[in-house]
Amino acid sequence: SLEYSLRPKFLQEYIGQDQVKENLKVFIEAARMRQETLDHVLLYGPPGLGKTTLAAIIANEMGVHVRTTSGPAIERPGDLAAILTSLEPGDVLFIDEIHRLHRSVEEVLYPAMEDFCLDIVIGKGQTARSIRIDLPPFTLVGATTRAGALSAPLRDRFGVLSRLEYYQPEQLSQIVKRTADILEVSIEEEAAFEIARRSRGTPRIANRLLRRVRDFAQVKGDGTITSILAREALELLQVDRLGLDHIDHKLLKAMIEKFRGGPVGLDTIAATIGEEAQTIEDVYEPYLLQIGFLQRTPRGRIVTHYAYEHFGMEVPK
Ligand code: ADE
Repeated sequence: SLEYSLRPKFLQEYIGQDQVKENLKVFIEAARMRQETLDHVLLYGPPGLGKTTLAAIIANEMGVHVRTTSGPAIERPGDLAAILTSLEPGDVLFIDEIHRLHRSVEEVLYPAMEDFCLDIVIGKGQTARSIRIDLPPFTLVGATTRAGALSAPLRDRFGVLSRLEYYQPEQLSQIVKRTADILEVSIEEEAAFEIARRSRGTPRIANRLLRRVRDFAQVKGDGTITSILAREALELLQVDRLGLDHIDHKLLKAMIEKFRGGPVGLDTIAATIGEEAQTIEDVYEPYLLQIGFLQRTPRGRIVTHYAYEHFGMEVPK
């Protein structure tokens, strides 16, 4: 599908995350030279920064298949055993949201990661015994938005830990232009930058905004994405100059108007605006912290003067 072909397939085409990319390049090349399986890789950082894409790239660069699943999708130890025994030597197993693995499943993963084997208990009580099954060597690529939510024994079994960072507008602009090229839509330099600036450092958001702006260009314009058209479309999409959307606004305004800017606890904010605390913590808060609109204190979250100024509101004394 087109969605799939939008994703870069090799490190060479992957824009940004230079540190992560440089390191992975070395580890991949070294493993290939030794004709070994790449060590297990943990990718962590905010959603939408390209963890799934990187997992597919790692497999491609190693010349193996990638099998994709997620923490919550693996319900029982047997589900994981079925996946592991069906891998071919050297394959990449990608587990998204790996912090959400059940404890019982996680325990099967330890010997699999460490010794490429499964310890299976058959029978019950007095007659129970354990048999060992050898697995093909594989590379586990785990992804999580919260490295801190991983159990220590699981985290310790990854040989490579890579943190993805928010992208700079310059890099996002390159990504937008690359995607526009694949979508065969022409876009002005300044329009690509406008979309980049409003994408919260996140390629997934940049590519989504590009598609919506393209819709406006097609219907309201002549198909070309000009900077004027991009700006108008982004206004209509309720994405402000910093890329903050309706929910970011609701969150910040609730904190300002109902809690005098805080400090206020995460659960209280969540209940006030009707969003899940976990979603706020994983999706919305990281960027607001990054741009300095929110701060975390031991007594709860506070809104900073930058947020007041962004809304044209007076900063309380
Ligand atoms: N599309 C989404 N993320 C990308 C990236 N980092 N580089 C190139 N294209 C992308």
